[in-house]
Amino acid sequence: METSVPDSQLIIAIDGPAGAGKSTLAREIARRLGYLFINTGAMYRAIAWKAADERIPLTDAEAIGELARRAVIDLTGPVDATRVLIDGRDITTEIVHPDISRNASIVSAISAVRRALVARQREMGAAGGVVMEGRDIGTHVFPEARLKIYLDASAEARARRRFDEDLARGLAPASLESIKSEIEARDLRDRTRTDSPLTIADDAVLIDSSNLSIDEVVAMILTLVARRG
Ligand code: DC
Repeated sequence: METSVPDSQLIIAIDGPAGAGKSTLAREIARRLGYLFINTGAMYRAIAWKAADERIPLTDAEAIGELARRAVIDLTGPVDATRVLIDGRDITTEIVHPDISRNASIVSAISAVRRALVARQREMGAAGGVVMEGRDIGTHVFPEARLKIYLDASAEARARRRFDEDLARGLAPASLESIKSEIEARDLRDRTRTDSPLTIADDAVLIDSSNLSIDEVVAMILTLVARRG
């Protein structure tokens, strides 16, 4: 007899480059399905923040690896108001800074950091009922995930969205051109590192969101969930 796994046990993996809209999308899917939303980029950002706080140079891979093993990262709060804490300190608003984006990409290339954070991500997602987004979720963290999405968009569309997000947050955005080159530099680093680089899983559904609204992408994914659940 065929056994059906309840929807609540699905692991939905969403990967893709910086600024493709993964967090907005993952959050909305989690909200609609009553799933946990786990933004793994926030964990790499938290390590970058703590390294700066402790004045550890980014070139000291050993010390940063050790920091990743001992730091306690909590992703808490309701799906539409998640908070990021490291060792009890709430750093949610601090980790969106562009310097942290760049430094998170740098520390994420350190294998010891990845090992420590991937182990925690696997614990958090093991029970299913989770939408986890990042760069290596479908390829490495949960290669057995039943639904994998690779969300892409042109560099122009991604830079434009970042620019609009900064405006909406009340930050004075950098020029569109400099946001685009920052995104491209980060993409290159994330795609070319040796340990679990950003790649498209063979069984991922590829969605280019350059010309789609968030609602359209949400609808596409909910249809896929209904088929696989
Ligand atoms: O998704 P984000 O922009 O918040 O991620 C910040 C950096 O963290 C990103 O440039 C690369 C790294 N990252 C990663 O290596 N693996 C993940 N699963 C998530 C993020």
